[in-house]
Amino acid sequence: MNEQLAKVAEAMVAPGKGILAADESTGTIKKRFDSINTDSTEDNRRDYREMLFRTTGAMREHISGVILFDETIRQKAKDGTPLAKVIADTGAFPGIKVDTGAKDLAHSSGEKVTEGLDGLRERVAEYVELGAKFAKWRAVINIGAGLPSHNAIHANAHALARYAAICQEGGLVPIVEPEVLMDGDHDIDTCYNVTTWALKETYLELFYAGVRLEGTILKPNMVISGTTNSNRAGVEEVAEKTVRVLKNCVPASVPGICFLSGGQSDEEATAHLSAMNAAYDMPWTLSFSYGRALQHAALNAWGGKAENEAAAQAAFAHRARMNGLAAQGKWTEAMEKEAA
Ligand code: 13P
Repeated sequence: MNEQLAKVAEAMVAPGKGILAADESTGTIKKRFDSINTDSTEDNRRDYREMLFRTTGAMREHISGVILFDETIRQKAKDGTPLAKVIADTGAFPGIKVDTGAKDLAHSSGEKVTEGLDGLRERVAEYVELGAKFAKWRAVINIGAGLPSHNAIHANAHALARYAAICQEGGLVPIVEPEVLMDGDHDIDTCYNVTTWALKETYLELFYAGVRLEGTILKPNMVISGTTNSNRAGVEEVAEKTVRVLKNCVPASVPGICFLSGGQSDEEATAHLSAMNAAYDMPWTLSFSYGRALQHAALNAWGGKAENEAAAQAAFAHRARMNGLAAQGKWTEAMEKEAA
């Protein structure tokens, strides 16, 4: 079992490949669809996601796994093929978001703790039957006045570790995602310190829970200035500080680190990843597990209309290729213009 998990984790970070996060909850996908004036019906959600998963060339070449929401892993494509099989037929692994969302943390105003441990063992067994090879759990850490608290850092790390252990027992590779949010006007060094704290605590709890790091993937935020900071750090500083935090906190036995995009623009997310891979020697593979930064252009090109599918697939294929290059440190800004 351990060897099998390690093999899957390694394949998830095969050279030039990364993960497509398409696991928006019903509430989040509605927000995305609202932005293109499209109703969030079950059929529209299916059509949109099927369109992405059937971008076959890009999927084969640049996508190692797709994170799905509970509804999607049970859905069938228009021709009746389960969407999980459409994904698997491209060579990518279907994965599943298993947390049930970040909820208010008691006695910690402004902070969240992620729920979903109750019944998780049974749900993991069902998802394995439905074809999942890996899972995701997202913890959210908020930076603010006096935040985060030790309570939030600890409660979230503890939940991540319990989740990861249950997944490994059940045969799924856990993606461990402690996300320090970009929201706020904090500077990059504040993000550096909070990310260090969150990762130190996470790896301590993973150790206590007996999690085999070889069969895990880390999905962290990059070390980056707050969204509304007036003097945001540039690409080289983000790359340098992110790599420094990771080297200080993430054991070398972890096979891969796949970043979330967290609200960065499409090109920023690509440029940061490429800068890290181009300039630093690291014990793990650094790649992507982007939601918005892989889908944003495709969602807008689609606009909820079947006649735009080819344009939307082209937009998705382009971002997948750019990020595949970034995962090897080979992306340049000129490549964006060439395509345009
Ligand atoms: P973003 O890349 O849009 O942050 O989403 C990734 C994800 O899966 C967050 O859990």
